[in-house]
Amino acid sequence: MKELIDQLYKNTVLTKEEYTQLITDHTAEDSEYLFSLARKIRHEYYGNDVYIRGLIEFTNYCKNDCLYCGIRKSNKNADRYRLTKDEILECCQSGYELGFRTFVLQGGEDPYYTDEIIIDIIQNIKDRYPDCALTLSVGEREHDSYQAFFDAGADRYLLRHETANNEHYGRLHPHNLSLIHRKQCLYDLKAIGYQVGCGFMVGSPYQTAENLAEDILFIKELQPHMVGIGPFIAQHDTPFANQPNGTLEQTLFMLGLLRLTVPYALLPSTTALGTIHPMGREKGILAGANVVMPNLSPVSVRKKYMLYDNKICTGDEAAECRYCMQKRMEAIGYHIAVSRGDAKSIRNEIII
Ligand code: SAM
Ligand code: FES
Repeated sequence: MKELIDQLYKNTVLTKEEYTQLITDHTAEDSEYLFSLARKIRHEYYGNDVYIRGLIEFTNYCKNDCLYCGIRKSNKNADRYRLTKDEILECCQSGYELGFRTFVLQGGEDPYYTDEIIIDIIQNIKDRYPDCALTLSVGEREHDSYQAFFDAGADRYLLRHETANNEHYGRLHPHNLSLIHRKQCLYDLKAIGYQVGCGFMVGSPYQTAENLAEDILFIKELQPHMVGIGPFIAQHDTPFANQPNGTLEQTLFMLGLLRLTVPYALLPSTTALGTIHPMGREKGILAGANVVMPNLSPVSVRKKYMLYDNKICTGDEAAECRYCMQKRMEAIGYHIAVSRGDAKSIRNEIII
């Protein structure tokens, strides 16, 4: 397998069959070798810096019914909440004081937040914090809405594609949602000028090694600025309550493959990774990731944004999460950067 990993390191791409073979047949030794190369590349582009993003989970209402998701509309046990503009601005203020220069507004697809409301929130945040980047993660919307958010000042957009395989997509989502539309949203966002993030869950129900290879090849084609991946974790009130979780090992291996395939990309070491293993986020950084996303949501709502069971950091104030993360990163030789943390291009320039 080492030859294939060397080939990927050199050419930044493999065939679907080769990726599948690596994902299926690698040994623990192969993983360590992959991670050492992933760290090497990550250091060439980003040094020892770990970028932080302040995550604000501003609504857990959702009109969708994704089968894996704890805040899907059919979950009658979800305790629903929405943050007001002022509450969101308070999260940004405490985040700014803690050194965050990127805010991520994430929520379910909640029609209460019309384009006008979102635009007003964007403008307020950008007026107060012009030196900060603003990332939106509010699901699928029309091209004109994405354009209007961008014109209002939004810089980045996260929309995980979830799986690049059509049949697999159909097994994770209700029939009214389509992979074609989700991919189109990603292409639209990129064309508008956003820094775009896609991504997927590792170990989601019915996923095969081939599906994961297809995910990597879709990412290679899209060339996103960010790729968010984390293990699937079952949520007890969903149809996938009894499905097995994705593993630490496979998620780390996928992070390593992604670092070699899209060397410049921003790769978060996610909360889900920290949920399946106490050192998951540190291990993610050591496998090639370079971003962490501590939570800035008010503690009063944290437990309500329960996408999956046993989510960590739901009782901690923003400051606790921020300094906890700093300690964790320093313990493994990395350093939290107080900056917007934009993606670098092949020539180490900012790519837009
Ligand atoms: N509604 C927005 C969207 O669709 O992009 C953003 C919110 S959505 C909850 C954010 C991400 O959470 C999804 O893209 C999905 O990959 C992840 N997620 C949802 N349920 C999960 C689960 N059970 N385990 C791990 N990740 C999950
Ligand atoms: Fe909408 Fe999960 S089903 S955010």
